[in-house]
Amino acid sequence: MAFATRRFVRSASSAAAKKLIVKHVTVIGGGLMGAGIAQVAAATGHTVVLVDQTDEILKNSRKGIEDSLKRMTKKMFTDKPEEMILRCMIYTQHWTVVWLIPDSARLLCWFLLLLPKSWALRSSHPRLTRKLVWTSLCFLDKQGSAVFEAAAQFIEKTLKNLTVSTDPVAVVHSTDLVIEAIVENLQVKNDLFKRLDKFAPENTIFASNTSSLQITDIANSTTRQDRFGGLHFFNPVPMMKLVEVIKTPMTNQKTFESLMEFTKALGKNPISCKDTPGFVVNRLLVPYLMEAVRLYERGDASKEDIDVAMKLGAGYPMGPFELLDYVGLDTSKYIIDGWHSLEPNNPLFAPSPLLNKLVEERKMGKKTGEGFYKYK
Ligand code: CAA
Repeated sequence: MAFATRRFVRSASSAAAKKLIVKHVTVIGGGLMGAGIAQVAAATGHTVVLVDQTDEILKNSRKGIEDSLKRMTKKMFTDKPEEMILRCMIYTQHWTVVWLIPDSARLLCWFLLLLPKSWALRSSHPRLTRKLVWTSLCFLDKQGSAVFEAAAQFIEKTLKNLTVSTDPVAVVHSTDLVIEAIVENLQVKNDLFKRLDKFAPENTIFASNTSSLQITDIANSTTRQDRFGGLHFFNPVPMMKLVEVIKTPMTNQKTFESLMEFTKALGKNPISCKDTPGFVVNRLLVPYLMEAVRLYERGDASKEDIDVAMKLGAGYPMGPFELLDYVGLDTSKYIIDGWHSLEPNNPLFAPSPLLNKLVEERKMGKKTGEGFYKYK
């Protein structure tokens, strides 16, 4: 009977699934992931409404987005020092002044600008290089050059595309795509989507950013399983280039294509995934992280040495303990616990007493100031 009902829903709603160019996006959940998704969508010209339960949460999300945009522009505008020097000279017209009036301040600017040009410095100290270029620009252009203007305009334009709301039902009536990034609780997600399903236009696509639940289980709370998929982003969203686009057996091909195109429009690199636990990245990453914890629990190596080993020996940007703290120990525990309940005999999914203890002590990683490491 359930099968027959599902088939009916599918055939009735498939007619409505068309390829959609996504312009208006509603992001539900103002946490790190939701705010990051909203930021990237707004920065790439989409109009975005970010939704969460209280104004206080949304105020924090907006503050986080503003800070991240500042960090991003700093990187965007200082990644190519030579280009920056040239642009700076053209825009500010200071270059003639630099030659004609070699006062100490101008000399310092030149020194700071030329220093990051050095290949050796740039490759060994990328962060220092960016800071030097930025400092140089600040010196050179106190009045506000075109460089700073472009950065400010980018931030302003992005923020203009972004509004916030505490009422998801009131905002979904004109949205092309709803992306959910709320708590990893199936019942809560299902209640939300069931409600939105009644108010969103027929052609609106629904997507979940879940990292541990099955997309199919969430989609089944709606009557639009064919217009439902997964969009799995990575932390920090503005920096990580990958998005996993999840197609369930019910996802219409047009819906899937719309989601692929949307992620490309965000400047991301999408990959196609089936609705399997952990999709691709987490299925490989989480067992690796858990193996690192077990190695440490057995006393085979210190966490510091394991982190160094994976950074210097395997070329990872962060060691496993740094990454666990960055992602959040509660998130990692949630994922592994879910998989363990599905496959209790799989040793890769075995829970870790140390991870459980840290989460119990509310040591969740960077966000709470302590995890495997302590943060100021
Ligand atoms: N917003 C905007 N810009 C940011 C940023 C953010 N949140 N984070 C970093 N940046 C930019 C800034 O320009 C920053 O410069 P400043 O610090 O001067 O502002 C610049 O990147 C460099 O950052 P860092 O010097 O701090 O460090 P980095 O060069 O090593 O880059 C990193 C940081 C991108 C996070 C890098 O360490 C990295 O790639 N780490 C691995 C992250 C990872 O594996 N993520 C996936 C986690 S798994 C997941 O998310 C899925 C899940 O379901 C659990």
